[in-house]
Amino acid sequence: MKSLIDIIDLTPQEIDQMIETACDIIDNPKKYSEKCKGKKLATLFFEPSTRTRLSFEAAMYELGGNVIGFSEANSSSAAKGESVADTAKTISCYADIIAMRHPKEGAPFVASKNASIPVINAGDGGHNHPTQTLADLLTIYREKGGFNNLTIGFCGDLKFGRTVHSLINAMARYSGIKVVLISPEELKVPSYVKKNVLKANDIPYIQTTNLEEVMPQLDVLYMTRVQRERFFNEEDYLRLKDSYILDLPKLANAKEDLCIMHPLPRVNEISVAVDDDPRACYFKQVLNGKYMRMALILKLLEEAEK
Ligand code: CP
Repeated sequence: MKSLIDIIDLTPQEIDQMIETACDIIDNPKKYSEKCKGKKLATLFFEPSTRTRLSFEAAMYELGGNVIGFSEANSSSAAKGESVADTAKTISCYADIIAMRHPKEGAPFVASKNASIPVINAGDGGHNHPTQTLADLLTIYREKGGFNNLTIGFCGDLKFGRTVHSLINAMARYSGIKVVLISPEELKVPSYVKKNVLKANDIPYIQTTNLEEVMPQLDVLYMTRVQRERFFNEEDYLRLKDSYILDLPKLANAKEDLCIMHPLPRVNEISVAVDDDPRACYFKQVLNGKYMRMALILKLLEEAEK
């Protein structure tokens, strides 16, 4: 049973095919409006979400399917102590595909090993968020025309930011990629990402604390929120939360075709004045997420039927 737990579960060729499907959905939505008739998606969200849960649900409805699920752990039997494995076995009796978000790293993987239907990781702790990466990749594709020869800056909480880890993994498979890691010392990318992804794939990267200094080099700037929910200590969060606030003066030396991204939700990381700049792509990312989730549901259900 094919599931999506980590973005590298998909080959670059599979991602290309999904981008092709997503672009066709954008152009011909009616063609897809009954593709999932009679199918059910279960959204099992043990952590808060706006975009991921609702875009999965919108995606399934736009494919003609139905949705069941819960949006907080306390409204499921997890609150009574039920394991992720038993939850996955149970939901397999009711639905055709699962999208699961969980605060524990590896929980969707455990679910995939126990479910008899495909499981999609909708974010696991500070680990991975592969469907956000699919949204990010469609955005980069539509804005930049492809993935090769790009310099990408990741800025903010690179330690706990699971969307950063997944996107670095995805981009490391393309050629001519350069990575610029911009964060406070305490929120640097984990060493396993540097060793297993950047160094292992010979991706040139630099680490800096200074966003303005590197701004002119960037083709893509991926801003992130400091992940308050992953901090052990509120004092550290308060000290670090406003480390980077992107505003119009900071974009003075940026490329004219810079693509400014953010997985959202935003707290303070991007001034609202930037929203009207043509380089702001973060609300396009939100919409692209729905199309790529539609392409993913179609792909996994089709493979499950083989
Ligand atoms: N980007 C993202 O995962 O947003 P939500 O937490 O609102 O789902």
